Amino acid sequence: MLYLILGSVISLSFFRPSPHASPSKNINGDRASYEAVTGESADEDRTVWDSFYKNKSHIYGKEAIAYLQENIDLIPKGRAFVPAMGEGRNAIYLAKKGFNVDGNDISDVAVDKALAEAKLQHVTIKANIVDLKLYSYPENYYDFILMSLFYDKELLPHLKKALKKGAYIMFYAKVELKGVRDNSPSDFAVKAGELKEAVKEYQIIKPYQEFVDHGIRVATILAKKP
Ligand SMILES: C[S@@+](CC[C@H](N)C(=O)[O-])C[C@H]1O[C@@H](n2cnc3c(N)ncnc32)[C@H](O)[C@@H]1O
Repeated sequence: MLYLILGSVISLSFFRPSPHASPSKNINGDRASYEAVTGESADEDRTVWDSFYKNKSHIYGKEAIAYLQENIDLIPKGRAFVPAMGEGRNAIYLAKKGFNVDGNDISDVAVDKALAEAKLQHVTIKANIVDLKLYSYPENYYDFILMSLFYDKELLPHLKKALKKGAYIMFYAKVELKGVRDNSPSDFAVKAGELKEAVKEYQIIKPYQEFVDHGIRVATILAKKP
């Protein structure tokens, strides 16, 4: 199915590269002007993301998200999982902070770049090319999972199972804009308040927040599995 985002919408553009156009700026810029058109299949998704990452580096910035950096001391060190890690900015940061990091992404270009960058920065991360919709998740395995600019409700049960008891999960997600005609489940955005519901049975370590970061409205929460 082809999803077409109607209208000129800044925020959606950050999350989904168009196969037909390239971004004018990365997420650290104040504007991105390409339309968001998703692929019709996992293969097409992969191709689209690959060409996106081939065309530019550090699309979402080189630094880890500020929300992770601000709250890193609240998260006990251990085995961390960074699904859909892109070029690895957060995975590398976690490795530097002493976590044992597994990352993955559907794009082999992104994974190659993440591994190269980790090497450049003298840290080790494990990274695989994976379609998270088809992935065989380990159970009771991770001490921390970071979901940064990638949210898919369908994957939530798998992620929760992958967490150990007492493990932490952090979400940093784009918030859907009201009035935007977006019928794409693949743009990784959340509805306002949705993250509270996502971890409602968890202990809240850092309460739900919404704020504007780099020009987009984001929602965040840090929670601990009971
Ligand atoms: C908006 S980017 C966020 C990248 C990274 N998490 C960050 O914050 O810098 C979304 C990422 O999800 C990846 N992705 C999309 N669909 C995926 C899937 N089905 N399985 C794994 N990764 C996927 C893309 O390749 C892309 O790197």
